[in-house]
Order: sequence, then C-alpha cells, then structure tokens
Amino acid sequence: MTQREIVDRQHLPLEWRVLLAAATEARARAHAPYSQFPVGAAVQTATGRVFSGCNVENASSGLTVCAERVAIWKAVSQGEKVLTALAVITEGGATPCGACRQVLSEFAEDLPILVADTKGQVWITSLRELLPAPFPRINLPDLAGEG
Ligand code: THU
Repeated sequence: MTQREIVDRQHLPLEWRVLLAAATEARARAHAPYSQFPVGAAVQTATGRVFSGCNVENASSGLTVCAERVAIWKAVSQGEKVLTALAVITEGGATPCGACRQVLSEFAEDLPILVADTKGQVWITSLRELLPAPFPRINLPDLAGEG
C-alpha cells in the first residue's frame, strides 16, 4: 500500500483490519468528558501482539494521556518494546500528536501508521513521514545504545 493513499477500510489487508478493529473498540471506551473527542489507538508489536488504548482525560487537564501513549504503555509494560504498526481512529481522521510521535520513536525507528476516520476512510502514513527528525537518544551519551 502506498503512503498517503486514502482507501476504504473494507479493502485493507487483514492485519490492518485487526489493528483498526482494536483501535475502534478502544475508542468506544475513551474517557473524554472534557474534550468530547474520543480517540482509539492500537499498536502491533514485533511478536504480533496487539495492544489498544483510548485517551484518558482528567479534571486536572495536564494529566490527560493520549490514546497512543496508553497503547504504548500497555505494550511496554507487557515486555513488548518493539513496535511494528500503529492504527489510530478519530472522528475526522487526526494524526498522532507530536508528543506521541516522539514516544513512538523510542520504540521504532519507523513504522507504518494507519489513520482512520469514523466514516470508513483510512490513510496510511509512517512515523518517519510524520516525524522526520525525532529527538535521538544518541544525544544522551550515557544512555546511548541501551535497550
Ligand atoms: N488526543 C489523543 O488521544 N491522541 C492524540 O494524538 C491527540 C489528542 C486526545 C487528548 C485529549 O483527550 C483529546 O484528544 C483532545 O485533545
């Protein structure tokens, strides 16, 4: 599938449909009473497992956590530190925020990202396209190379 191509989700390969289904289910569980903007995400890891997440807002606004990071925290806390794909779904098909892009870059040099809206359209992009120049861990000499 070429990047930037907008396709109908019924024409997606099975792996993408599985990931999108997990993200869609998670979105239904979003805790977003303040923004009314539910987000669902799901990451696939190198072992083929899928971890989903929704945004979890808080009355103390700065404590809100994005759906993508919830999914990543779940994967990493289960010992899965290599991410191979991400699906994210919002009403209008929003891409992951900058903070989530940087967090993704901690666990993948690049990965395909499926961005979906709730009308059935999807767009395939990649971390490298969305974040061409992440803050690299090499800038932290004492930690460079640590897994
Ligand atoms: N949000 C996400 O879950 N992911 C993003 O990449 C951007 C924003 C959430 C945070 C907040 O709950 C709501 O969307 C509105 O910003």
